[in-house]
Amino acid sequence: MIRVEGLSKVFHSRDGGSVVALHDVSLEVARNEFVSLVGPSGCGKSTMLRLVAGLVGATRGVLEIDGTAVTEPRRDIGIVFQSPTLLPWADITDNVLFPLRLMREKAGDARARAHALLELVGLKGFESRYPRELSGGMQQRAAICRALIHDPGILLMDEPFGALDALTREVMSMELLRIWTENPKTIVFVTHSITEAVLLSDRVIVMSPRPGRIAEVVEVPIERPRTLDMEGSREFQECTRRIRRRIFGADETDLSGPAAA
Ligand SMILES: Nc1ncnc2c1ncn2[C@@H]1O[C@H](COP(=O)(O)OP(=O)(O)O)[C@@H](O)[C@H]1O
Ligand SMILES: [Mg+2]
Repeated sequence: MIRVEGLSKVFHSRDGGSVVALHDVSLEVARNEFVSLVGPSGCGKSTMLRLVAGLVGATRGVLEIDGTAVTEPRRDIGIVFQSPTLLPWADITDNVLFPLRLMREKAGDARARAHALLELVGLKGFESRYPRELSGGMQQRAAICRALIHDPGILLMDEPFGALDALTREVMSMELLRIWTENPKTIVFVTHSITEAVLLSDRVIVMSPRPGRIAEVVEVPIERPRTLDMEGSREFQECTRRIRRRIFGADETDLSGPAAA
């Protein structure tokens, strides 16, 4: 569904300097596949998502969705960022409906759909609340509904659980898998957490920085539905170890620490 070949992105600064954010990246993502991008800060994960979303243009290479070159933002993509960025003056339902308003789409039964999505993520009863009345995890659930309201075929998620505490993060991971199972989509998920990437994905794309490249693609041969206690399994440990080795050259655990710098 997504085809990337020889993709490079160079950013130029005003003082004449340039940064190679991505260099010669090739990747294919199948319809309804769940793929994660992991790697240290600055290896081009967000740039990759912004390219796929059509928010920035590539410097070189091929980027196609369903055989069509991506040249501008596409409607069939939903995006979730690390911070939920809800509109403070609109209630949760109106926040979820906001993309339809931007796209000037007829509301139709959109309110019913918004409420069904909110129910799917466990926010039934909060439809008329305001963002400030919700916890961080609940706000991020609403942001996921907002990304799904126009029923996109592709969901791009850039460290969507990065600002949540560890427990909420685990709950949200399992919730995301449940939503994806009930409502299949192609998902490209960026995370700093190797464990999260393995738990969620069919394949983990390990990236390395300066310039951003794909260092390795790790298939996750673990059956679905996944559960948190699978993290203790031998296959799971093998996947995380392989990814860690590729990133650190050793068995470190945390990408967000100084080792990632
Ligand atoms: N708009 C931009 N202008 C200039 N440089 C950028 C811009 N966006 C990203 N970069 C640079 O590109 C590299 C990759 O950034 P990014 O994709 O955000 O990495 P990641 O999400 O993996 O942390 C970094 O060196 C970053 O500083
Ligand atoms: Mg990023």
